[in-house]
Amino acid sequence: MHSFPELLKKFEDRFNPEAIFPGMPANLYEPCKYILGIGGKRVRPVLCLMANELFGPINEDAWNASYAVELFHNFTLIHDDIMDKAPLRRGMPTIHNKYGLTSGILSGDVMNIFAYQSLAKVSNSLQKLMELFNQTAIEVCEGQQLDMDFEQRNDVTIEEYINMIALKTSVLLACSLKMGAITGGGMGDNANKLYAFGRNLGLAFQLQDDYLDAFGDPEKSGKQVGGDILANKKTILLIQALNVANEQQRQQINTLLESDTTDKVEKMLTLFRTLKVDEYCREQVHYYSELAFKNMDDVAIPSARKEPLLQLAQYLLMRDK
Ligand code: IPE
Ligand code: IPE
Ligand code: MG
Ligand code: MG
Ligand code: MG
Repeated sequence: MHSFPELLKKFEDRFNPEAIFPGMPANLYEPCKYILGIGGKRVRPVLCLMANELFGPINEDAWNASYAVELFHNFTLIHDDIMDKAPLRRGMPTIHNKYGLTSGILSGDVMNIFAYQSLAKVSNSLQKLMELFNQTAIEVCEGQQLDMDFEQRNDVTIEEYINMIALKTSVLLACSLKMGAITGGGMGDNANKLYAFGRNLGLAFQLQDDYLDAFGDPEKSGKQVGGDILANKKTILLIQALNVANEQQRQQINTLLESDTTDKVEKMLTLFRTLKVDEYCREQVHYYSELAFKNMDDVAIPSARKEPLLQLAQYLLMRDK
């Protein structure tokens, strides 16, 4: 059994973007190496490796699955940053910002294919893993489309929001865990319970992401402050603000949603604080993480083995980046 920092180090030692991608054409592969080289938390591959370790020693299949999820995740980020018009990621210019839109599109495309190529190297239960990965990838696209559709709507419910973030974010965390369980030989009920754990953990993770977008320190998050506000994203903060606002406050929010003045972010943040939706968001992070911990209780293995995963979950919910 290994802790998050230990598995992170092992992953970083083996995962080498310079070796994964060829040199030419440089304009295709350099952006891939650039974004992967800046790092990131590497949560999904570590979840995959940890899930494998719940059932057995980490094997080559788990490594290949872990590279696949990290490559796929980074591909979604490249295209997400285009869709969200994000200038910064991990404290550095986004790919479309640095290399141009066509690089963002095509380098993202090719990275997605490298993700599949890595998964295809798995030698046991390949069909099962491929079906899970495909279904997950389809759901991520569905979630991303809903996220974009919601920008145009002001009547999104919390229920619709939870469904959207389950699709765009949770399913990939859940898939990473289930793939690791499968490569480690964990089957049936245990693999499904880990999936349920990942789904609730993913909801808490995206709620925390929404919180950090508004209230985080950009030095730490590495993202533009208030990017979600600028894009009229229907985050938990905005939805709940509309739910609890009085008539006057609701009008102020609606006016801000129509505007793109320089004080839009600042004014929206003031309303969020007045309406205490920052606190509401923290409570919801707590609520879904408790559900995740309950799912983990149901996984039928000795509790000492679950410790690294539970610690990683704790870290994710307290994180500031
Ligand atoms: C960002 O994911 C996208 C979301 C689903 C919220 P991460 O917060 O895991 O990003 P990195 O990989 O650590 O940069
Ligand atoms: C991204 O959600 C989800 C996917 C990339 C699939 P966000 O748009 O909230 O992620 P960040 O905040 O840009 O990392
Ligand atoms: Mg985004
Ligand atoms: Mg987005
Ligand atoms: Mg976000």
